[in-house]
Amino acid sequence: MKTRITDLFGIEHPIIQGGMHFVGFAEMAAAVSEAGGLGIITGLTQGSPENLAKEIARCRQMTTRPFGVNLTFLPALTPPDYPGYIKAIIEGGVKIVETAGNNPQKWLPALKEAGIKVIHKCTSVRHSLKAESIGCDAVSVDGFECGGHPGEDDVPNFILLPRAAEELKIPFVASGGMADGRSLVAALSLGADGMNMGTRFMATREAPIHDNVKQALVAASELDTRLIMRPLRNTERVLKNAAVDRLLDKEKQLGSAIKFQDIVAEVGGVYPRIMKKGEMDAGAWSCGMVAGLIHDVPTVKELIDRIMREADEIIASRLTRMAKAA
Ligand SMILES: Cc1cc2nc3c(=O)[nH]c(=O)nc-3n(C[C@H](O)[C@H](O)[C@H](O)COP(=O)(O)O)c2cc1C
Repeated sequence: MKTRITDLFGIEHPIIQGGMHFVGFAEMAAAVSEAGGLGIITGLTQGSPENLAKEIARCRQMTTRPFGVNLTFLPALTPPDYPGYIKAIIEGGVKIVETAGNNPQKWLPALKEAGIKVIHKCTSVRHSLKAESIGCDAVSVDGFECGGHPGEDDVPNFILLPRAAEELKIPFVASGGMADGRSLVAALSLGADGMNMGTRFMATREAPIHDNVKQALVAASELDTRLIMRPLRNTERVLKNAAVDRLLDKEKQLGSAIKFQDIVAEVGGVYPRIMKKGEMDAGAWSCGMVAGLIHDVPTVKELIDRIMREADEIIASRLTRMAKAA
């Protein structure tokens, strides 16, 4: 399949693996890139620019194909060493960066000068247009269904994607709720040039996370996610568990007076315990509604090949037959 996204990133299939905290290690990114998609290492998960440099080098040993690095710009009292991370990306020869969170404008000149293509993750049309206007090469449009931070507008992809298509000139991928060939064909129909998946890629053999997490995704239905931190305007879609129930109780009791400190036990530094040790109730972890469409744990290559085969069948057989019959 050839789209503006496969052309832009020099990849075989228009499928991107979005940055994921404590999932986006070299094993994950390399498996996706080797299978013809675009794998992405999660920058901040590495803990320091030095470690990111090592992770980039490790990924390069595992694949000769293009891969990217995610840089998430979060509001923080003591911000991470972003200049250091950017230096590691540039010196590591990475040519694709997925930015997310705050406006990446400040960091674009350095990235552009190094010939790096930037895809910014956005949850609204207005942020997508802003990304286009500051010189991003593409956007990843993240609908309300998505795992992680869906923003505060609550517009699902059936509306958000065609709205993005109406306004954007640069290519974009559909993100949030994407799982299979049906998702890909739908995303293309709605105006996207490919798709980005997070949650679905966690339930793969190569995902470097504890098997308990993969099994939780297979067991979960589309009804099992919850939105947390709404009162803090930092909404996150997570899988329901004991910690999330406790957190939501606190939100109910404290109302608009709630502060981050009140929920730090449920959200602060919990990822390693969940992803590495498989302690499923240790805290809140991002998960999309798409969990309802995850029924197995294939290899990344099996997953991507299946998606492309299914998409081809839908386009060449199902849709063509319907169009001809009309
Ligand atoms: C466990 C997990 C961790 C994530 N961590 C990040 C992150 O650190 N930075 C980021 O930009 N997006 C992060 N995301 C969002 C994904 O990159 C992607 O946009 C999202 O998962 C798409 O929705 P889906 O899960 O329905 O496929 C995370 C998602 C998950 C499931």
